[in-house]
Amino acid sequence: MFSRSAHSALVFVTFIISVVAVPSATDAAKRSTCTVDSVSSASSLSDCSDVVIASFTVDDGDTVTMSFAESATVTMTGEVTFASTTASGPLITFEGTDISFNGGGNTFNGNGADYWDGEGTDGGKAKPHPFMKIKASGTFENFIVLNTPAQAISVGNDDPLTISDVTVNNKAGDTDDLGHNTDGFDVSASDVTIMNCVVENQDDCIAINSGSNIVFQENTCSGGHGMSIGSISSGKTVSGVVFSGNTVSDSLYGTRIKVDSDATSGSVTNVTWSGNMISSISDYGVLITQSYPDNDGTPGTDTTISDVNFIDSTTTVSVDSNATRVTVDCGQCTGTWDWSKLDATGGDAGTIDADDATVSGFLCSY
Ligand SMILES: *[C@@H]1O[C@H](CO)[C@@H](O)[C@H](O)[C@H]1NC(C)=O
Ligand SMILES: *[C@@H]1O[C@H](CO)[C@@H](O)[C@H](O)[C@H]1NC(C)=O
Repeated sequence: MFSRSAHSALVFVTFIISVVAVPSATDAAKRSTCTVDSVSSASSLSDCSDVVIASFTVDDGDTVTMSFAESATVTMTGEVTFASTTASGPLITFEGTDISFNGGGNTFNGNGADYWDGEGTDGGKAKPHPFMKIKASGTFENFIVLNTPAQAISVGNDDPLTISDVTVNNKAGDTDDLGHNTDGFDVSASDVTIMNCVVENQDDCIAINSGSNIVFQENTCSGGHGMSIGSISSGKTVSGVVFSGNTVSDSLYGTRIKVDSDATSGSVTNVTWSGNMISSISDYGVLITQSYPDNDGTPGTDTTISDVNFIDSTTTVSVDSNATRVTVDCGQCTGTWDWSKLDATGGDAGTIDADDATVSGFLCSY
């Protein structure tokens, strides 16, 4: 606390400064609370310490970028709905440092059914993607991303970011197999934690394309392609990934590392799985491959996969009767991989072709 006289002195000094100095924008007090209830009101938030996002609609052709003040607090009170649009993605972008974003369970509605035609981003109707881009750091929690045209949330923070209690609900895309390429989280960033999230979709639950120190824990994935690193293209590196305590069910794959067969450089290293529950898998339970887009083909030899471990608590993998439990298809892999906490059952065993890597402790005979 200031003493009364110190306070008076401070007021006096402040008065002198304000008389002498030409006030600049940075001297202005932050507006206490700013409300976003339209596309235009989303565009100037740099002097708002608190932001409230109320219900509004984003019209055809518009996109939204919210650049928050450092350490801003952001809450939602209603749904943000996106009209069917000719704009390209991202349709909504969040920027800022050390942001506390709490959606209060509210929804960003992408109206995916207006786009879905079974072709995803490979053809058919143009589908804006990603739907949402989080370029911010801090904490983003407690909101729903509903029915995205294609890929849902792209993560590209510069400083540490935690995403928790977020639901990506693209379940409606299961109807007639119309939803396609509806990735939950696409991560090309470092120092990211994604936890307690739910993804119901038709493609990767998470796809980590580059970055380091990435934790994916206690999430629930269903309907899609499981937890992925990759696909890794030339020049991309991924290191320090932990998948722990996740549940993956009713999916094509349980978990994969997929490296493009034609990648001319790149690496994946230090990946740990612990305590995941993977079940009802229709293609591969665990697939480590350098022959992508093939599952198990002719692997490239110009990238490296190393230090890939199933440790700490058991990861259980249960695949359908006509699926493959575990396959490793390496062109260049190294190190001793501890797979002592992988318990895989069902289907066909698969093949382990680990090149120079040694897979140890895995209780299956090949
Ligand atoms: C492996 O990754 C984890 C998680 O990011 C990290 O804590 C650990 O230090 C890394 N280990 C090595 C040897 O780099
Ligand atoms: C595997 O079996 C499931 C039903 O259990 C079926 O839907 C699927 O088409 C089969 N896949 C193959 C490759 O036979």
